[in-house]
Amino acid sequence: MKILFFLVTFLISGSLLAAESSNKNMPKHEWSFKGITGTFDKAALQRGYKVYREVCEGCHSMKLLYYRDLMDIGFSEAEVKAIASEYTVLDGPNDEGEMFERSARPADRFVSSYANENEARASNNGAYPPDLSVITKARKHGEDYIYNLLIGYEEPPENIEVGDGMYYNKWMDGNQIAMPQPIYDESVDYDDGTDNNEKQIAKDVVAFLKWSAEPELEVRKNLGIKAILFFLVLGTVVYLAKNRLWRRVH
Ligand code: HEC
Repeated sequence: MKILFFLVTFLISGSLLAAESSNKNMPKHEWSFKGITGTFDKAALQRGYKVYREVCEGCHSMKLLYYRDLMDIGFSEAEVKAIASEYTVLDGPNDEGEMFERSARPADRFVSSYANENEARASNNGAYPPDLSVITKARKHGEDYIYNLLIGYEEPPENIEVGDGMYYNKWMDGNQIAMPQPIYDESVDYDDGTDNNEKQIAKDVVAFLKWSAEPELEVRKNLGIKAILFFLVLGTVVYLAKNRLWRRVH
């Protein structure tokens, strides 16, 4: 009976692993924030924000971010004020009980291009462009998947019929996506002289999305290293103390 149980468990877990492995060939990429000492490259994050602003923001919101969060990636207070002031938010009610528009401030959340999901769907052929605030956490293979997706547009193979308003993409589930290819070479001008080819632009925007999903990443990794060092030192002290205490016991 027991053997049967183990056999069944073994077979089930085997097939689950097999299902998993179909996704294993997701190409991985070099990221500055990977590994135990990983950090964000602020210049890349600032370029990534520019890409978000100039390309993705037209369709995708990032509602969990505040303009003041941009100071985290190296923008000055004045720059953040200037960025925020380019957006309009609905505020109120005022003393007369009316809602009014004003320009955004650093303490406001990122303003979305669409008023609501229905408007977003109506403008995108019925598909909903998901909020990008924590998208690297919301998708398997996070940053690697999103990067591959952004540069994964191709002509469909001959035997595949792509639906109306859909585009062929190697990495999307079912290979069809309602998002038209957003990034091409030179889609965004960089001020810091970085080559603005398609891959670089995709890489920068993905780094920005990683930061927005895990702004605490550097602190967390730093703490991890400190914890390891602490236990190494503690371990050495305890070991020496033990040797000393037991020195005369034979
Ligand atoms: C013209 C509108 C438009 C623009 C511009 C756009 N997207 Fe999208 N995006 C969409 C739509 C619509 C979907 C939903 C696709 C679907 O469900 O088939 C989507 C889906 C996505 C997804 C989720 C894919 C998945 O696995 O479900 C990601 C990630 C994404 N977009 C990132 C970006 C980034 C990054 C940019 C900027 C470089 C961008 N998008 C620009 C419309 C847009």
